[in-house]
Amino acid sequence: MDLYEYQARDLFEKYDVPVLKGIIADTPDEVRAASETLGGVTVVKAQVKVGGRGKAGGVKVAKTPDDAFAAAQSILGLDIKGHVVKRVMVAEGADITQEFYFSVLLDRANRSYLSLASYEGGMEIEQLAEERPEALARVEVDPAEGLPLEKAREIAVAAKFPAELIEKVAPVFVKLFDVYKGEDATLVEVNPLVLTGSGDIIALDGKVSLDDNAAFRHPDHEALVDAASEDPLEAKAKANDLNYVKLDGEVGIIGNGAGLVMSTLDVVAYAGEAHGGVKPANFLDIGGGASAEVMAAGLDVILGDPQVKSVFVNVFGGITSCVAVANGIVAALGILGDAATKPLVVRLDGNQVEEGRAILTAAAHPLVTLATTMDDGADKAAELAAA
Ligand SMILES: Nc1ncnc2c1ncn2[C@@H]1O[C@H](COP(=O)(O)OP(=O)(O)OP(=O)(O)O)[C@@H](O)[C@H]1O
Ligand SMILES: [Mg+2]
Repeated sequence: MDLYEYQARDLFEKYDVPVLKGIIADTPDEVRAASETLGGVTVVKAQVKVGGRGKAGGVKVAKTPDDAFAAAQSILGLDIKGHVVKRVMVAEGADITQEFYFSVLLDRANRSYLSLASYEGGMEIEQLAEERPEALARVEVDPAEGLPLEKAREIAVAAKFPAELIEKVAPVFVKLFDVYKGEDATLVEVNPLVLTGSGDIIALDGKVSLDDNAAFRHPDHEALVDAASEDPLEAKAKANDLNYVKLDGEVGIIGNGAGLVMSTLDVVAYAGEAHGGVKPANFLDIGGGASAEVMAAGLDVILGDPQVKSVFVNVFGGITSCVAVANGIVAALGILGDAATKPLVVRLDGNQVEEGRAILTAAAHPLVTLATTMDDGADKAAELAAA
């Protein structure tokens, strides 16, 4: 999960990383009030989970509360690379002398952590990495050793910080690593980290990604989820522990086991070529136990996607027998009632396949078509989607 800048700021504060005061606001009036509370020069900053806000007009310096009000009017509602700004952060204005860069991230390829740092900040990091790679230090951080002060100094030296700044930035690197480790993040990035006129080091902009796999260790992370901007179908799937990924096509796919679902996507895409190029609408793995509840939740998610024209249920009975799956489908259609409106092609195979098919045949649901092979099922589902 990626966090908003203001959420990253709050986490930084919790770990004693030096940050400026910030107040979130959703309307120009709230922005004016926040600016009055903070006093002096403030900066109104768009809160969107995408980079390059400054260049897109999403970061504005305001000398007075009235300026802040006007800045909010231009920033709220702004579309930044497809993200509409609904909230801003009003931050204290910093007296910036110099801008630097620091980040620590999960380095999957090396099964380690990697720290990136540069004395030359203020530029987009991708651009710096490309144009002046020598200015960007890359230092491996051993997960077992973490980032003691000595190592942080090493990073600062590698990043070409001058001697007098090393003792100032290294402790901040240590604290930022504390955030990374303590919150189970996969990325903590500060761009820019600044030196102010009074000689302080401040994290002016923070980007944090948290590892969802570690969510069970952090019950407080739940509160950071932005339910309003989450895709409602993905949220529903997640709430039911289903692995669901929305795709662009028209044939809804339900299968059990990631491997089977992946091959079903391929087979449907291939069959779709003969039917005007219809494609899979999603990836949905209902996992091992295809109970009626799980099947109903899966169907509910898929039928809720307006792009879906037909559904292909492709299940291989293993430990879960086809009888349980067939009963699950029948019960799910019962639970959904009138909410189920799109044709379903079902292909069952494996454990107790004959008994499972018999159950579906006996139920004779008007929306259900039985297929014997995966290819037949894919072809039928693609044909129904194209109709
Ligand atoms: N509180 C502040 N006081 C003074 N200047 C600021 C403040 N916040 C940001 N700035 C200036 O605005 C620039 C852009 O801000 P910031 O890094 O937060 O946004 P961005 O880099 O455009 O967005 P993103 O990091 O999402 O790409 C900073 O490099 C800094 O010069
Ligand atoms: Mg930035």
